[in-house]
Amino acid sequence: MSRKLKFVSAVGARPNFMKVAPLHRIFSKIEAVQHLIVHTGQHYDRNMSKVFFDDLDLPRPDIYLGVGSGSHAEQTARVMIEFEKVLLREKPDLVIVVGDVNSTVACSLAAAKLQVPVAHVEAGLRSFDRAMPEELNRIVTDVLSDYLFVTEDVGVENLAHEGIDPDKVFLVGDVMVDSLVVYREKAKASEVKRIMGVTARSYTLVTLHRPSNVDDEVNLKRILEIFERIEKHGPIIFPIHPRTRKRIEEFGLMAHFQAVKGLLLTDPLGYLDFLNLMMDARLVMTDSGGIQEETFFLNVPCLTLRNSTERPATVSEGTNVLAGLDVDVVCGLTAECYGGKWKRSTIPNFLDGRAAERIAEVLLNSPKLKSAADTIKVEESIR
Ligand code: UD1
Repeated sequence: MSRKLKFVSAVGARPNFMKVAPLHRIFSKIEAVQHLIVHTGQHYDRNMSKVFFDDLDLPRPDIYLGVGSGSHAEQTARVMIEFEKVLLREKPDLVIVVGDVNSTVACSLAAAKLQVPVAHVEAGLRSFDRAMPEELNRIVTDVLSDYLFVTEDVGVENLAHEGIDPDKVFLVGDVMVDSLVVYREKAKASEVKRIMGVTARSYTLVTLHRPSNVDDEVNLKRILEIFERIEKHGPIIFPIHPRTRKRIEEFGLMAHFQAVKGLLLTDPLGYLDFLNLMMDARLVMTDSGGIQEETFFLNVPCLTLRNSTERPATVSEGTNVLAGLDVDVVCGLTAECYGGKWKRSTIPNFLDGRAAERIAEVLLNSPKLKSAADTIKVEESIR
């Protein structure tokens, strides 16, 4: 047998971990592949990182870069400097990056400069809002990538418009949904609802961390007003992201949030507890991209407090509604949801929990990578 292919997956921030877990699971079953996980350390708090490794049965990262927080340039540059050292030492056959965080673009750029092939999982998504740092990260990562794994049809179109070679583009579905499929049952056993004193379908679950929403005092006050006006419908559970907590405290608004009756403030939650709350929510209110997709798949009503989405299928085929931060609109839609009116999802065939499997097939059948693994029967080894 030829030597093993060495794949390095780079992760850094909370939304990366549930995307890499299914890839790790599949690669661990393939003899021909050695899979290393490099954690950049972009997120480092226990409840933003370690708890996800535990919940998702991920092993400790093989390499931890410890870059921490900083401005965009500082963080991106520090990841590049540290990741380049890993590449020079490990000499991987492929670098796999997921999503659109600063670690994603930094690792792709370091790899591409050393001519290490790059696979981007969750390629082609576009919000067409370049004020979002993630949009810049997506565009740059896609330009640099050799394998672009796309979650929905529109991603293929976006990449074609940008002149990306269609031979590099593969519509495979969403690895984040793979994780939902695997962990849905286990999440049901979480005690989180009992601990928080809420019952299924009675509460709104909120996550907010986009700089455009939470770095702006006026917008944070709008969010506060929304909470004050919707708490009459039922409890609001708000696990506060560290960025959001910092801003609420800076603007002196914490006491006002704490004063809202029915608003349950918590620290960020682990994967299984959050999934439990999301599955049984009456309504999810969010500015996260990933949660729009997860609620789409779980058929749970979702109000997105943004004016754009990089996942349009969640709106056209799913439960997602874009509401911006217009307080009257958000409160009106919340009342509709509690009144029992909401659209339902039609889930595309390829959101079936097998995206990681399709990615492995593409990679191991790729002429460029195949030469080192040519004696392996891919279909047999990954099933
Ligand atoms: C990052 C991603 C965003 C993703 C989000 C998920 C970028 C540009 N943004 O945003 O796409 O949706 O993660 O959470 O990559 N902090 C802590 N502890 C931590 C991590 C961060 O306290 O473990 C605080 C620090 O004060 C830091 C701030 O949160 O400055 C922001 O963290 P950062 O990773 O820069 O961006 P996020 O807002 O988390």
